[in-house]
Amino acid sequence: MTRQLRLNAFLKPAGEYLAGWRHPDSPPDAGVNFPYVSRLVQALEAAKFDAVFIPDLAGLPDTHPTVLERVAVVNDTFEPVSLLAALVPLTTHIGLFGTVSTSYSDPLEVARIFATLQALSGGRAGWNAVTSLNHGEAVNFGGSALADHASRYARAEEFADVVLGLWGQGGQPFFEHGGQHFTISPTRPFTSPPLSRPIIAQAGASEAGKQFAARVAEVIFTNIREYDGVKAYRADLRKRAETFGRHPDNVIICPNLETVIAPTRDEAQEKFGRLKALLHPRVALGDVEYWLGGVSLADLPLDAPLPPLPVTEKSVSTQQRWYQQAQEQRLTIRDLVHRIANGNHTLIGTPQDVADHIEHWFTTGAADGFNVAFPYLPTTLTDFTRWVVPELQRRNLFRKDYGAAHAVQARA
Ligand SMILES: Cc1cc2nc3c(=O)[nH]c(=O)nc-3n(C[C@H](O)[C@H](O)[C@H](O)COP(=O)(O)O)c2cc1C
Repeated sequence: MTRQLRLNAFLKPAGEYLAGWRHPDSPPDAGVNFPYVSRLVQALEAAKFDAVFIPDLAGLPDTHPTVLERVAVVNDTFEPVSLLAALVPLTTHIGLFGTVSTSYSDPLEVARIFATLQALSGGRAGWNAVTSLNHGEAVNFGGSALADHASRYARAEEFADVVLGLWGQGGQPFFEHGGQHFTISPTRPFTSPPLSRPIIAQAGASEAGKQFAARVAEVIFTNIREYDGVKAYRADLRKRAETFGRHPDNVIICPNLETVIAPTRDEAQEKFGRLKALLHPRVALGDVEYWLGGVSLADLPLDAPLPPLPVTEKSVSTQQRWYQQAQEQRLTIRDLVHRIANGNHTLIGTPQDVADHIEHWFTTGAADGFNVAFPYLPTTLTDFTRWVVPELQRRNLFRKDYGAAHAVQARA
């Protein structure tokens, strides 16, 4: 069978770019404006996207209060699974993927809500299993601090086994479990034949995260931006999946892709320039601090090289990646501010430039698809669906219609 290009939409209604919410085209209540969010999802379905994927963070990001005052924070967004359930009657084919943390929920609860979403949507549900990396979130759920990385993944591994068992993966009429973290008395699996179970998505980047993703996930997202890095990541994850007895083609690797598009490259740069101008410098610095694992850079000179950083438990791999880049390229803090917060990874160009990028990465085995994020909405979503999707279809890279075997059901 021909390999299918996958397009997931990573939907943050206020926009992915830190200052995207300030754009005059963006409604001020974007994250909790259901008619608006519905229209975005319906536009994605009209463009034949595989799935819409809703992130989650049940607390304030760990950042400076002055930054929080100037960003659209996740508290201004809907809880993902409730939102997806409300989208069911408004959509017919698009996959509905929601994020729920293995650190702050219970596997029985997760198995039930996604089995329910699967039944309500006729088989379109997906669970993005995260272990969470935020201190505030840990406190909100009764902890005093974020549990260490290894413990979070140990719990996630057992959590996923319980969820899969409750989804009837063992084929037994009853499922029971007694483990280190969870106990389940004999319980009937939440199966709904002939529906397959929900898809599992993951974005592991550390050693533990990659092992977890390779063992349980069908769709794997990555923040890695460089072609060689993504290609190596995909090869690695495919190999790891095989060691778990899985067929590597059942693991779909989707790097993130943000775009600002216009008919000419100059116009696209101008469009991006107008967006960048909306970013407050203190917000940019705060964002860098966040991605470096919560370190404080406020007292350090902006034009000096990044000093060695204390290792935090927040996002070990992300911090290491930025730190390594800063060392290799002798970046100052100011350079990093631009690189991280100013959307250095955003692909700015024509629809053909974006289609070339997608085609190259897909056909040369660096990616199976893309996790398309939108710097500001609705513009960058509309531009992608009206310009890039038809170009991909013209090149026979992307479906023109949802077939009977819609691609989201890759595993079934
Ligand atoms: C595209 C993408 C989306 C993510 N969405 C979330 C999210 O919604 N909530 C969350 O707590 N973590 C999210 N993460 C973080 C990952 O779950 C993971 O913790 C991170 O990639 C670091 O990997 P590690 O846990 O293996 O260190 C996301 C990561 C990526 C790449």
